[in-house]
Parts: sequence; structure tokens; C-alpha cells
Amino acid sequence: MYKTHTCGELRAANIGQTVTLAGWVHRQRDHGGVTFIDLRDRFGLVQIVSKPGEASAAVLQDARAEWVLQVTGIVRSRPAGAENPNLPTGAIEVEVQQCEVLNAAKPLPFMINKDEDTDENVRLKYRYIDLRRERMQRNLLLRHKVIKFMRDYLDERGFVEVETPMLFKTTPEGARDYLVPSRVHPGSFYALPQSPQQLKQLLMVAGVERYFQIARCFRDEDLRGDRQPEFTQLDVEMSFVHRDDVLDMMEGLFTEMIPAVAPHKRILDAPWKKLTYFEAMDTYGTDKPDLRFDLKLYDASQLFANSSFMVFQNTLKSGGVIKCIAAPGCAEYTRKEVDELTNVARDQGAKGLATLALAAEGVKGTAAKFISAEEIEALKALTGAQAGDLLLFVADSKAVANKTLGALRLLFRDRLNLADKSVMAFAWVVDFPMFEWKEEDQKWDAAHHPFTMPKLEDMPKFDTNPAEILSDAYDMVCNGYELASGSIRIHRRDIQFKIFQLLGLKDEDIQLKFGHMLEAFEYGAPPHGGIAPGIDRLVMLLADEPNIREVIAFPKNQAARDLMANAPSPATEKQLKELHIHVDEPEEKGE
Ligand code: AMO
Ligand code: AMP
Repeated sequence: MYKTHTCGELRAANIGQTVTLAGWVHRQRDHGGVTFIDLRDRFGLVQIVSKPGEASAAVLQDARAEWVLQVTGIVRSRPAGAENPNLPTGAIEVEVQQCEVLNAAKPLPFMINKDEDTDENVRLKYRYIDLRRERMQRNLLLRHKVIKFMRDYLDERGFVEVETPMLFKTTPEGARDYLVPSRVHPGSFYALPQSPQQLKQLLMVAGVERYFQIARCFRDEDLRGDRQPEFTQLDVEMSFVHRDDVLDMMEGLFTEMIPAVAPHKRILDAPWKKLTYFEAMDTYGTDKPDLRFDLKLYDASQLFANSSFMVFQNTLKSGGVIKCIAAPGCAEYTRKEVDELTNVARDQGAKGLATLALAAEGVKGTAAKFISAEEIEALKALTGAQAGDLLLFVADSKAVANKTLGALRLLFRDRLNLADKSVMAFAWVVDFPMFEWKEEDQKWDAAHHPFTMPKLEDMPKFDTNPAEILSDAYDMVCNGYELASGSIRIHRRDIQFKIFQLLGLKDEDIQLKFGHMLEAFEYGAPPHGGIAPGIDRLVMLLADEPNIREVIAFPKNQAARDLMANAPSPATEKQLKELHIHVDEPEEKGE
């Protein structure tokens, strides 16, 4: 080994020992001919000091940031007053007798010994330097701990980790596939799995009963802060279970894991809240509510049944709703501030935003002159609004009103600091609709995925009203993010076939795409269900990071590129020829 000790482990007890260390020059300072270096390795920092007169002193003086050094020296106590109580090794320093430069480093593209705002593209291009930063090392370690905890927890409960193929067939999870051309089968392609969904179900048919996998998933979709083209799920599937068996298993895992891996976080509820999809939408305007704070949406339609406000009257007449939220302490918002909120509302599709400020001098706002004293009292009773609050109304379809006020709710969360950062507000959202109508394609789509079991009592609605069919699907949500999705699955061929038909697949397409699943269900498929938490999103929340790129060692940027290796990149003529592929490049757009 190049070292007898790590840079993080030396303490007063080591004083007098001769040690050999190896690591990077984190910081170098010169004080009147004596060189001080903070030497860093993955385990910490230690101060090393040159000894004037030794040959090594000149080497230390020449060393620059991120050079790789091996030093041998004696541990001694720091002079009185020079101790650093903020550093675990702060009581000692190492007086260097010998020093070897294992490798020099060019001047860095950015400093890693300070927290400065470096352009993310530069960080990603030099990711191997970026990852040396303490914050990134901490994130990698946290991710490791999360995954290890999951493995151990599930292993102790009889789950088996099974690897499933990356080269497979299309798996519908709502995104585009990444395709891999086959050399030996010209014109045919594998699809990288959007999830191991089909394979884990087939493992249930195979009698595995309790499966998990730290599974890589690939999805070609528009990227956002909480999405990457490849990401990792804790993929879980269980046989002979009902919904709550799956939920209890996951809740148990998360409840034990969070204090173990992230003791600075507190889980809000035990047991976790359960909301139906419709409750979540009606109360919070979204199916992934942030439950760390209240600020609920209220339906004031009834209350305004006889409103003199034309906007409200017309909306109610056309079958719409009037919903509102009460922003605490915002009654004195200026015209400009209200205009900003109105713009946010318009961005969400609302036609406008009506306001009622419960100001000290009386009610103000665009709705004030149309509102009666009784209506104000009724509003206070409905929403709990008090003097000083600002009521915001959207009159529209339920969907638009929910979406708009849901977005404003989050805006006030951030503006008024309503959410405690140390809290994890986990909840289950259950009873999702089975299908959603895709207006642009004029067809039904599976709200979760087509392998989800519809509620059996809703089966008669198949031929009459598919929109009303609920499913045995569930989401785990936390602090406004969807952390996991799952469902009880279909294990009967006839139901699965019916679903595919309703989704508009022709019989021969069903056979072509999913024949293997349908056939498997005819050979003794047990009832089964499962779930898949996204590990990147979870670690992002635990690490208080603003996006998942910060918790992935080598992420793609927002344009799905790896800036370090410059991928994707063109294939050679030879490769293309072998793959029987002709590239039809889009024409360059003119200036
Ligand atoms: P779903 O598609 O909802 O379900 O994905 C489950 C969880 O995976 C995470 N996730 C992502 N994370 C980062 N980047 C992405 N592009 C991305 N897409 C999804 C989220 C999400 O909640 N097979 C089903 C699960 C099941 O039914 O068991 C599935 O994949 O945290
Ligand atoms: P108007 O009658 O369009 O001038 O709008 C009067 C006020 O009502 C303005 O403050 C609008 O922003 C607001 N408003 C208009 N349409 C809606 C709506 N659908 N919901 C809530 N407020 C609205």
C-alpha cells in the first residue's frame, strides 16, 4: 500500500508515530519558507508541514493544487493556538521527511477547494475532478448507503436479487425506447428496458415470489431536474399479495432506512397518510402533493351559487367550478405582485385570477366589489382564512382550477417558507383511474401501465365508461415528488387481452408485442404486485440537492449528452455497414 494511514484518521493519539500518507494537494500555503499543505484523500484532510533543510521541503514548495503526493513524516501536535477544532485531524500535523510526487496536475478548470458556482457544463466535462469535491463524495456515499440498506433489508425478508436483461423488447412505460440495432438480424432492434416490468412479472410466473433488483432503466423522454435518460430503480415484485402487503413492506423499509442513512431527516407521519387520487387532486391540485404544509384548495362553487360576479356566474353555468386558496399574511400584496400571480395562473392555463384581500381597512381585490358580507363570512368558514390573508380564486374546469391553484400553492410554499427542509412527508396515493383519454391521439392510454389490475368491481364499466374504471395502482409521494409507482398486476390472460384491446392495439399487434406475456399467464401465473422507487430522486431529497444530476456519478446534461466523453457520437462507416444502417441526417436549418 502507498499509505499506512488515511488522511482522515490521525489524532492526538498518533503523536510521535512515523506515518506514510498519499493523497491530493487540497490547499498549499507558504509561511516564511515553511510550506503547509492540506493533504486530502477520500477519508479526510490532514495538514502536512515541510521541514526546512530536508530535500522534501523544496518539493512541497513546488507542489500545486491537486498534485498527487506520497509523504512520510512524524505526527506532532500543532503549536498552541494553531489547532483547528473544525477538522477531525485538527489537533495534529505531519512533519514531512520524505515526499514523492506521484503525479502533477495542470491548473484546474475550476477550484474544488472552495464552493463556487461553476458552470454545470464545465463540471460535467471534468466530472472526475468535480466528483472530488466533498459535497459530491458525500452524495456518492449516501447513495451507496441507501442501496446497501435496501439490499440488506430485502435480503433479510426473503427477497432475491435477480438481474434481468438490458437487451430486450419494448416495455411500455410512457416514454420512447432506446433501440440497439442487431448486427446478426438486419433491420431488427433490441429495446433497452424502460423498466424491468415484464421481466419481473415473468419472474413471478417463474415462482421467485419475492424479487428485487437495483435496476437501470432507459427512457428517451424530455429531461427535467428529476429525470434522466438512464436512471436507477429499486425494482420490487411480490407474489400472493394484496395492495397493502406491498405498501407495508415499502413503508417498513423507508421508515427504518431514513434514520439510518439520513439522521438529519424526520419522517412526518407514522403510519403514512393514504390519499385517494381524487382526494389528492381536489385538496392539493396534484397527484404528488407536498404534505409538509397545509394551504389546501377549497371548492367555493356552492358558496357562489348566487354570485353577482359575472366570471363566477358564467363558469358555474357552463359546468365549471370556483376553487380558491388562502395565502396567509399576503393581504397587502401590491398590484404588481398580484399581476405576477395572475401570470403564473395564465401559464397554467387559467383565464384569470380573482383576488380578495382581507386587509385591515376592509376587503380589497378584483372580487371585492362583487362579494357580499355573507359570502365573505362563508369563505372564512370554508377556508379558515383570517384577517391579513389573501384569497385567490380560479373559475374554470376542475382540471384547470386544480392545476393552477396547485402551482400557486407551491409558489407560496417557496415564497413564505412553509415547508420544513428536514421533514420527509411521505404518503401513499391510491385508487388511480385505470385509463386516461389522449386527446391528440383520440384514444385511451394506461394511466400507470397496461399490466395494472383494474378494480374488479369496475370491470362492468369496460364497455360503457372506461374513464370511471379505477385501478389497483399506487404512488409513493414525498415533498412534492413521485418517489415510487406500483400496482397489483393482471395475472389472467383474458383481462390482459381486454386491456390491450381497449388501448387500441390490434389483435395481431398484441400477439407480436406481448404474446410472451399472455402465454405466460396461461401456465399458472400467481396473483402478484410490486412497486419501483426511483433511487436517484430519493437520494436527491435526502441530500437536499436541487436535481438528480448531483447524485449520479456520470449524468447526462439536459440535452441528454455526456459532455465528458462526448456521447452520443457518430458511428464509423464500417460499424454502420455491419449494422445495415443508413443514416438519414436531418438537413441543416438555414440561419
Ligand atoms: P414508473 O414509470 O412510475 O413505474 O417509475 C417508477 C419510479 O422511477 C422513477 N423515475 C425516474 N427517475 C429518474 N429519471 C426518470 N426519467 C424517471 N422515470 C421514472 C420515479 C418513479 O416514481 N414498472 C413501473 C413500476 C411498477 O409498476 O412496479 C415503473 O417503472 O421515482
Ligand atoms: P374580466 O371580467 O375578464 O375583466 O376579469 C375580472 C377579474 O376576474 C380579473 O381580475 C381577472 O383576472 C379575473 N378573472 C377572469 N377570469 C377568471 C377566471 N376564470 N377565474 C378567476 N378569475 C378570473
